[in-house]
Amino acid sequence: MTEFFISTPIYYVNDAPHLGHAYSMINADAFARWHRGLGDEVYFLTGTDEHGQKVADSAARNDMSVQAWTDTYAERFKAAWEALRIDYDDFIRTTEERHTKAVQKFLQAIYDRGYIYKGMYRGTYCVSCEAYYTANDAPDGNCPVHKRPLIEMEEENYFFRLSAFQEALIEWYDRDPDAVFPDFRRNEAYSFIKGGLEDISISRTSIDWGIPLPWDERHVCYVWFDALINYVTATGYAEDFERFSRLWRHSHHLIGKDIIRFHCVWWPAMLMAAGLEPPSKLLVHGWLLVKGEKMAKSGGNGVDPIELVGTYGTDAVRYYLLREHALGADGDFSLEALEHRYNVELANNIGNLLSRVTNVVARSLGGVAPAYTGRAIAAERIEPHVARAQDGWNGFATAQALEEVQAMVRLANAVLEERAPWKAADPAEAAEPLGDALEILRLVAVLVAPVLTEASAKILAAIGIDPASVKGSYTEALGVGQYAGGASISKAAPLFPRLEATGA
Ligand code: ME8
Ligand code: MG
Repeated sequence: MTEFFISTPIYYVNDAPHLGHAYSMINADAFARWHRGLGDEVYFLTGTDEHGQKVADSAARNDMSVQAWTDTYAERFKAAWEALRIDYDDFIRTTEERHTKAVQKFLQAIYDRGYIYKGMYRGTYCVSCEAYYTANDAPDGNCPVHKRPLIEMEEENYFFRLSAFQEALIEWYDRDPDAVFPDFRRNEAYSFIKGGLEDISISRTSIDWGIPLPWDERHVCYVWFDALINYVTATGYAEDFERFSRLWRHSHHLIGKDIIRFHCVWWPAMLMAAGLEPPSKLLVHGWLLVKGEKMAKSGGNGVDPIELVGTYGTDAVRYYLLREHALGADGDFSLEALEHRYNVELANNIGNLLSRVTNVVARSLGGVAPAYTGRAIAAERIEPHVARAQDGWNGFATAQALEEVQAMVRLANAVLEERAPWKAADPAEAAEPLGDALEILRLVAVLVAPVLTEASAKILAAIGIDPASVKGSYTEALGVGQYAGGASISKAAPLFPRLEATGA
C-alpha cells in the first residue's frame, strides 16, 4: 500500500476564511480524494495557526481572551471547509497540547545539535507577515506584501543557524530537482538560497502568547517556527515516531507562493538541523486575484466561500477553481468566468450528455442500458484522454485533467449528434452510440470524482453503478470498455440546471 500525506498551510485565525484559503483547500482535497480513489493510504492534514502577535492583537482589539478568540475562529474555518466538502483527516490547532510537546522536542533537538544560539536582534518587522524584513527586501521601509510601514524591534532572541545550511540546501535541490513543483517556483527558492542565508531569530520575549522554549521559559517560540512544526506534530513526531517516519517519506506540502521562503528554505533546513529528512514534495500554487489584486483579508476583497456555494453549489465552485487555473499560476476570480464554466462545461456538456443518454435509453430501449461495444466510439479514441487525465491528477495538473474530461464528453456528444440514436428506427442501431456514450459517462464520473463529489456519484447511480464499487480501484475502473449494460435506467434529473442571468 502506498501512503500519501498531503498538508495545507495552517491559517491565521485573525479573520474569517475567504476563497483564497478555499483555493488551497479544494486543491488539497481533490488530490487526497484522487489518491484515496487509487487505494492509497491517505492522510490529509489542515488546521489553524493560533500563536503570534497578529492573533493576540486581533483578540485584544475585540475584547476577547486569546484562547476564546482562537476557539471561535477555528470553528469558522471548520464551517467553511464543511460547506466546501473538504474531507480532511486531521485538523491541527497550534494551541493543542500535542503541538506544544512536538515543538519543544523539535527545538530541543536543534538546540542540542548546536544550531541555536543567543543574541540581540534589531530589525524592522511586519506584524501582518509575522516576519522581519531587511532593507534589501523593503527599500522604502514598507512591507513588500502589505505595503504598510515596518516597525522597529529590538530584543534578546535565540537564533537558528540557517546560514549553516546553505550548502546542504543547494545539494538537496540539486539531488532532487522535482522537490518543488512547479519548476519556476523551485527556481525562485533556489535563488533565495544562492543569494545567501542569514540566521533567523526564533524566539520572542516581548509577548507571551506562544510556546515556551524548553531550555529558557522566558522566551516563546517565534510563530513561524511553531507553525511549520505542525507538519511533524500531526504525523506523530513526538508521540509515534514509527508512524511519523512512515508518513514523512510521502509528505506533500501544498502552499501559496506567499510562503515559499518559509517552506522551501527555512523548513527543510529546520528538518535537517533536527536530524530529519526534508519534505518529499512542496506544491506551490499562485494567488487568486480580484481585478489583478491578491484576494486578502487586509485587502477587503475577500469572497466568502459559504455564500458562494449557497449561490452556485459546492461542486460548481470546486470545479471552477480547479479548472480555471493551472496550479502555480496566479489567476483572476470572477463570477462571470465561474458562470461561463458552469453553463458551458457543466450544464451544456456533462449535464446534457447524461440527460440525453438516459432519456433516449428510457424512451427507445425500454430503460435497459446497452453495453459498450466500441463500434460508435472505439477505445483508441477514448484511451489517450483517460491517460492524460490520469497524468493530470497524478501530476497535480488539475486544469489538464479536467480539460481531458471535457474533451471526452465533447466526443460523446458529437458522436450522438452524428448518429442521432433518438431518430433510429431499429433499437439495435440506437444501442451502439448509447452504449459507448454510457461508457464515457462511467469514465468521466470516476475522473471527476475528486472535484464534483456530488455529481460524480449521481452520474454513476444514474447509469446503474454503485459509487462504492469503484472506490479504491480507480486504476482498474479506468480501463476503457467495461460498461456491461443491462442496468435499468430512467431519465436522470438535470445535474447542473442552467443558470438564469449572468452576474447573479
Ligand atoms: O501564512 N490566493 O497563514 P495565512 C491563493 N499561518 N491562496 C491564498 C490567497 C489567495 N489570494 N490568500 C490566502 C499563513 N491563500 C501562515 C501559514 S503554514 C505552516 C503557516 C492561502 O492565513 C495560501 O495557501 O496568511 C496561502 O499560502 C495561505 O492561504 C496563507 O494563509
Ligand atoms: Mg497571509
